[in-house]
Amino acid sequence: MSPGKKNLSLSSSFLQLLLPFLLTSSFLCPIDAQPFDYPTASLSTTWKNSATANHSVEFTDGSTVRAVLLRGTFGPKYACGFYCNGACDTYLFAIFIVQTNSVSYIVGPNYGFPQVVWSANRDFPVKVNSTLELTSSGDLVLKDADGTVAWSTDTSDKSVAGLNLTEAGNLVLFDENNATVWQSFDHPTDSLVPGQRLLIGQKLTPNVSSTNWTEFGMLSFGFTASGLYGLVGTNPPEVYYQFDYIQVTSHDMGYAEYMNGSLALFVNSELNKTMIEIPSAMSAQYMRLGSDGHLRVYEWSQNSGTWEQVADLLTGYLGDCAYPTACGNYSICSNGQCSCPVTSNGMYFQQINSRRPNLGCSEITPLSCSDSQYHSLIELQDVNYFTFNSDLESTDPESCKQACEKNCWCKAAIFRYRSNSSAGSCYLLSKVFSLMNNDLEKTHFNSTAYIKVQNVPPAPSPTRKKSQLPVIIGSSLGALFVVVLLVGVVIWKTRRVDDEEEIYLDQVPGMPTRFSYEILQATTENFSKKLGAGGFGSVFEGTLIDGTKIAVKQLEGLGQIKKSFLAEVETIGSIHHVNLVRLLGFCAEKMHRLLVYEFMANGSLDRWIYQKNSELVLEWQQRKKIILDIAKGLNYLHEDCRQKIIHLDIKPQNILLDENFNAKVSDFGLSKLIDRDQSQVMTTMRGTPGYLAPEWLLSSAITEKVDVYSFGVVILEIVCGRKVFDSSLNEEDMPLLNLFKRKAEEERLLDIVDKCSEDMQFHGPDAVNMMRVAAWCLQADFAKRPSMSTVVKVLEGVMDVKVDLDYNFFNLSRAKAPVEVGQRESEFRATTPLLPSVLSGPR
Ligand SMILES: *[C@@H]1O[C@H](CO)[C@@H](O)[C@H](O)[C@H]1NC(C)=O
Ligand SMILES: *[C@@H]1O[C@H](CO)[C@@H](O)[C@H](O)[C@H]1NC(C)=O
Ligand SMILES: *[C@@H]1O[C@H](CO)[C@@H](O)[C@H](O)[C@H]1NC(C)=O
Ligand SMILES: *[C@@H]1O[C@H](CO)[C@@H](O)[C@H](O)[C@H]1NC(C)=O
Ligand SMILES: *[C@@H]1O[C@H](CO)[C@@H](O)[C@H](O)[C@H]1NC(C)=O
Ligand SMILES: *[C@@H]1O[C@H](CO)[C@@H](O)[C@H](O)[C@H]1NC(C)=O
Ligand SMILES: *[C@@H]1O[C@H](CO)[C@@H](O)[C@H](O)[C@H]1NC(C)=O
Ligand SMILES: *[C@@H]1O[C@H](CO)[C@@H](O)[C@H](O)[C@H]1NC(C)=O
Ligand SMILES: *[C@@H]1O[C@H](CO)[C@@H](O)[C@H](O)[C@H]1NC(C)=O
Ligand SMILES: *[C@@H]1O[C@H](CO)[C@@H](O)[C@H](O)[C@H]1NC(C)=O
Ligand SMILES: *[C@@H]1O[C@H](CO)[C@@H](O)[C@H](O)[C@H]1NC(C)=O
Repeated sequence: MSPGKKNLSLSSSFLQLLLPFLLTSSFLCPIDAQPFDYPTASLSTTWKNSATANHSVEFTDGSTVRAVLLRGTFGPKYACGFYCNGACDTYLFAIFIVQTNSVSYIVGPNYGFPQVVWSANRDFPVKVNSTLELTSSGDLVLKDADGTVAWSTDTSDKSVAGLNLTEAGNLVLFDENNATVWQSFDHPTDSLVPGQRLLIGQKLTPNVSSTNWTEFGMLSFGFTASGLYGLVGTNPPEVYYQFDYIQVTSHDMGYAEYMNGSLALFVNSELNKTMIEIPSAMSAQYMRLGSDGHLRVYEWSQNSGTWEQVADLLTGYLGDCAYPTACGNYSICSNGQCSCPVTSNGMYFQQINSRRPNLGCSEITPLSCSDSQYHSLIELQDVNYFTFNSDLESTDPESCKQACEKNCWCKAAIFRYRSNSSAGSCYLLSKVFSLMNNDLEKTHFNSTAYIKVQNVPPAPSPTRKKSQLPVIIGSSLGALFVVVLLVGVVIWKTRRVDDEEEIYLDQVPGMPTRFSYEILQATTENFSKKLGAGGFGSVFEGTLIDGTKIAVKQLEGLGQIKKSFLAEVETIGSIHHVNLVRLLGFCAEKMHRLLVYEFMANGSLDRWIYQKNSELVLEWQQRKKIILDIAKGLNYLHEDCRQKIIHLDIKPQNILLDENFNAKVSDFGLSKLIDRDQSQVMTTMRGTPGYLAPEWLLSSAITEKVDVYSFGVVILEIVCGRKVFDSSLNEEDMPLLNLFKRKAEEERLLDIVDKCSEDMQFHGPDAVNMMRVAAWCLQADFAKRPSMSTVVKVLEGVMDVKVDLDYNFFNLSRAKAPVEVGQRESEFRATTPLLPSVLSGPR
């Protein structure tokens, strides 16, 4: 919303207080001779955010600006500097539009309130006495009062010659040739100004609210290789607005530009297409994405002396209700009014705030996956959703409901009837944003929503043995009472001494939590939700009492394993690193052997890199981050653990991703544990074909460099978006390494960058550089491969890739094997029987 006051009369603008002329040059800050127009700065300039700063103006809307640069006089102009609003205990370094005249460079305090169109540090606001410095080396650095760096352009090695705030409101660091080194236009926040372009991959993200400037990651409006999108949520995001008829290929650059009169699309500078009409600007204008998903245009009105909203760009197309935030979660929008779902046979939802229905509805009894037998779906006729991706085609409502019932992640299903038919398509939702009444006249199809709700489970059976399960019975508000059964998960404390194993266990301090089989059975709903299966057992989803999700690995066919199992568990459980999947607990009871791991919401990496029709194709930055995460995890296992751990089975199936796509290595330690002192050790061959280093064939002696090799294969798979063996291709290209070698020799590595991702194509040169890292890891001679710590340095940009790389990755004549150390073998075998080899075998 515009902070301008609508009732401000014309005359008040004449009553404005004109600030006295202030001296405008300082010894710290050599400013141009012109006092009102100081748009540039040279190196070694520092500005302090203090009340005594020159150009400090307070406004009656609560904002204060301390301009650092200002371009132009008379009328609305761009300035950049410190900005605060309200309590003013924190400040942004921002670009804002202010009113200027010939007497006071910024007119204040009750007129032409500053409009922020860009900010550097919205997630890290700074305090009074913070400084902005254009250093002698050309870095623009914002430091908080205590000296911590809140933001910087990181341009100290880019030969910056000065700083320029342009006529268009772009803050530019330029070099000696006046070429742009860095510009604020490349880092948009929630606003666009006329003349600003959105390039592929750039997007606007709103503030959390008008008073909280933090970035609200739930919504975005951006330009991708296939068009303009309004998106909500993550993993994968859902589209609420799209303009997507274009396909920008890797070499055709495209952008959307905010022009006077339109938001227009340019592809390859040939196809100019007006996408969204904007009222022609009579004065200063800007466009801003709000936290409600609306894209609004504001314009300075000289007549009223305020900023006015002149357009709400997407609403004409979407209507009021088709915004994902129109009414808040689970709430139904109808003609702009919000209400909670109601059914005749029970009350499942209540308003979060009865005075503000647009905040949405909450479930009276939250859905719990561990009580899925008490789930049901309520039917809401003529209810529709802002987006629809058909998960099931040519189906009927009953199958649609069942599909949702079967999947715990499914929170609701939308069924759309084909006209004159009882068949239709079904969309399964994993989160429920605002719902909307279906307007048949607009959509021409009938739509029904099925919302999953949690029913009240019956009272617990009194015959249950061993009541270590605390049962809390409560009742809910209102006429209906709801019995909530909370199943507590407690650590088995009983000191049963029936075999040697149990005694051993109790003597080990610092062990991961031990669970009883009964409790793991309950948390996984009797092992009903399978996440995956490996060669040595299956993995199931479970939910602990506090709602924490877990993954339970049921090891099969291990027989009576005693101390060795517990020793393994102890070691693995003691390894904590952000890029390693954590072992939370275990179960060893009679024949049952289970491991309890942290739950990783996005599953294993293979799901995300091979799927050609997956909704969310990982972008370059995400892939790069995943590669670095894996490298850090492996580096920790190889070099930082008390005992060196060689994974022996690195592959995408063993890399798991959490809800934010942070990658973690799993199943480590199930392989051999190698004493730090031993650099080389004997093992029998294991691992997965395709990821095995050539020395496996030459000798049974291996080192941690086999993991580096497998990691090299994984990098290639991530960058190329295909499997190491792809049987759908012709024989020559089936093995990825063959193709890689050939393309490297032809110097056409760009050809094999993942074609399903425009963003990857856009970052082609970066992807090719990453392939060089892979090539280094894949050297046939194990000694020529980098260590994982070196890989981490290269990925972080502190080191370069070795130059003379050999692309004959699997040439045995070039491969070298470590010298066998026969004695170690027997030592090793003696201390770690059966288990490790079983656990780390191919899956
Ligand atoms: C304001 O300008 C004057 C005159 O150039 C200078 O002496 C003073 O240090 C400046 N104040 C600040 C806070 O930069
Ligand atoms: C800012 O610095 C000035 C002098 O350097 C000091 O007097 C003042 O207390 C400081 N203000 C805050 C809020 O730290
Ligand atoms: C600063 O930007 C303006 C455009 O607003 C341009 O005319 C001028 O040449 C730029 N100055 C430098 C030093 O780059
Ligand atoms: C850079 O721009 C400034 C101001 O616009 C101008 O005076 C100067 O000659 C330009 N320098 C070069 C190398 O183009
Ligand atoms: C976002 O925060 C800025 C301050 O940086 C504020 O001026 C602006 O009004 C906020 N935007 C919205 C949509 O509230
Ligand atoms: C702003 O919003 C963020 C994200 O929701 C929250 O973490 C933060 O506490 C909020 N800040 C204030 C001052 O309310
Ligand atoms: C596209 O727009 C640019 C910039 O406005 C203009 O120079 C060019 O002539 C236009 N091309 C066509 C084909 O309209
Ligand atoms: C935008 O276009 C309109 C009509 O073509 C014109 O009157 C107005 O001056 C233009 N505004 C700007 C800021 O260029
Ligand atoms: C929608 O449903 C109504 C009754 O439920 C039916 O009469 C009508 O034909 C349906 N319309 C379409 C387009 O399927
Ligand atoms: C639906 O059925 C009605 C009456 O049977 C018919 O008039 C109409 O054309 C049909 N609509 C479609 C899209 O098939
Ligand atoms: C609405 O749902 C989203 C996605 O599940 C969630 O992140 C958000 O916190 C919810 N909002 C409220 C107010 O509960």
